[in-house]
Amino acid sequence: MELLIKGGEIVTADMRTHADIRIVGETIGEIGPGLVASPNAEVIDAAGKLVFPGFIDPHVHIYLPFMSTFARDTHVTASKAALVGGTTTFIEMVCPNRNEDTLEGYRTWKEKAEGKSGCDYAFHMAVTRYDAATEAQLREIVADGTTSFKIFLSYKNFFGVTDEEMYCTLKLAASLGVITTAHCENAELVAQLQQMLLAEGKTGPQWHEPSRPESVEAEGTARFATFLEATGATGYVVHLSCVPALRAAVEAKLRGVKISVESVLPHFLLDKTFAERPGVEGMKYIMSPPLRHERNQAALWTALQAGLIDTVGTDHCPFDVEQKLLGRKEFTQIPNGIPGIEDRVNLMYTCGVKRGRLDIHRFVDALSTRPAKLFGLYPRKGTIMVGADADIVVYDPEYRGTISAANQYTNNDYNGFEGTEIEGRPAVVTVRGKVQVRDGRFVGEPGLGRMLRRSTQQRVETKEPVYAN
Ligand code: URP
Ligand code: ZN
Ligand code: ZN
Repeated sequence: MELLIKGGEIVTADMRTHADIRIVGETIGEIGPGLVASPNAEVIDAAGKLVFPGFIDPHVHIYLPFMSTFARDTHVTASKAALVGGTTTFIEMVCPNRNEDTLEGYRTWKEKAEGKSGCDYAFHMAVTRYDAATEAQLREIVADGTTSFKIFLSYKNFFGVTDEEMYCTLKLAASLGVITTAHCENAELVAQLQQMLLAEGKTGPQWHEPSRPESVEAEGTARFATFLEATGATGYVVHLSCVPALRAAVEAKLRGVKISVESVLPHFLLDKTFAERPGVEGMKYIMSPPLRHERNQAALWTALQAGLIDTVGTDHCPFDVEQKLLGRKEFTQIPNGIPGIEDRVNLMYTCGVKRGRLDIHRFVDALSTRPAKLFGLYPRKGTIMVGADADIVVYDPEYRGTISAANQYTNNDYNGFEGTEIEGRPAVVTVRGKVQVRDGRFVGEPGLGRMLRRSTQQRVETKEPVYAN
C-alpha cells in the first residue's frame, strides 16, 4: 500500500522544504515536489501543515513496580498516548530492583511490551546491582539489541548502585560500546535529609524538594561525570533539573567527558510551587529530581537552545490520586512520577517554538534526531530521508486546544498540565507507513509496534553544540 503525503512543509533537524513524501510499504520511497500518486495510493493532504520525523521519547516508565505500587499505564495505553501526541518511538527503562534478577527482569519487560504497543520501542537496561552473574547477563542483553544501560545514583537499597557498582558497570559499558544513562542524585544525602525532615515533623509534599536539594543533584552529576572520565565510558544524564547540575555537566563536556544531557518536560514548565500545594494537589507533582525553583527554567531553555541540553524526554510515570495518597502521612511514601508522554511534543512546540525560546530545527533535533543518534536508532528513526522508516508526523500548527485529563489516552485520573492551551497538534501520525492517528484520535493497530534492536556500532556521537546562537 502506498501513502502520499502531499503539499506539506518538511522540517527536520537541519532542513526545511516544501516537498511531497511517497511511502512505499514501511519506509520512505521518494521525496520531492509534485509527486504523482500511484493508483490505489492514499493521499494525505498536508497543505498548511508541518511534516516532522516521528518524535522519540528517550525516557519513559510504563511497566514499573516502584514505591509499593505500579505505574498506571500499560503498553497499550501509553503507546496510544504517545502516538496521539506525535511520539512514534519510546525508550522504556527496564527496572528490576536490586533484589531481583537482571535477566529475568529484562525478559519480564519484553513480555509486557510484546504485541501490545502501537508504536515502536526500545529499552534501556537498568543495572541495579553488580555481582558475579551481572557481566554475562548484560552481555546477553546487549547481544539482544539493548545497547544502553541505566544506573540510579539515588533510591538507596532499591534501584541505587554503590560507587563500586557504578565503576564496574561503566567499565563494562566502555568495553562493549554501550551508552549508560544515569539518574544523578546522592542517595545517602537524600536518605539522611528525608529522616531529618520527618523527625522535625515536616511530612507534607512541600518537603520533598528540600529533601533532595539542587546541591544533591549537582554532586551526583559531577560524580557520574568523574566516573565516566575515569572509565572512558559514554554517559547520558537523565532528567537534569537545575543550574548547579547543568554547570557540573557542562564543565564535564568542556573537559572532553563523553556526556550528554536530557531534561524532561515537567522541569521546563512546572516549578516547586506546584508540589507545595496542600494535600493531594501537591502530591500530584512529586517526582525526582523534584520540581525546582522557577529561576532554573530560563537556564534550561537557554541550554536547550544552545545544545548544551541535548534531548527532551518526559520521564513519563503515571500514578493516580489514590496511589499518590499512599504518602498522605509522610512525603517519602508518595510514589514519584508525573506523566507527560502525550503532551511533550505539543507543549514543547507551544511553549518553546511558538514562544521564541526554541528554534524549530533544534526542537526536532532534541525531541527526535538526537535521541535517535545517541541511542543507535539513526537514520532508521529521527529524520526524513529515503530509506528511513516512514514514521511521520503531519502537524497542524493552526490547531488550538486545551490539555485535560478528561480526554487523554494516558491511564491516569489527572494531568499535571491540566488547562494549558496548546497551539498545534498532530493531524496524522504514521508508524512505518501505517496511519495510527488522525486528528487527535488513535485509529490504528494497537499491537503494530516492534522492539527496536540496536547495535553498539550504530551510535552516532554528537559532541558539538548545534544551532548555538
Ligand atoms: O520521579 C520519577 N522520576 N519517577 C520515575 C523514576 C525515576 O527516577 O526516573
Ligand atoms: Zn530517575
Ligand atoms: Zn525515570
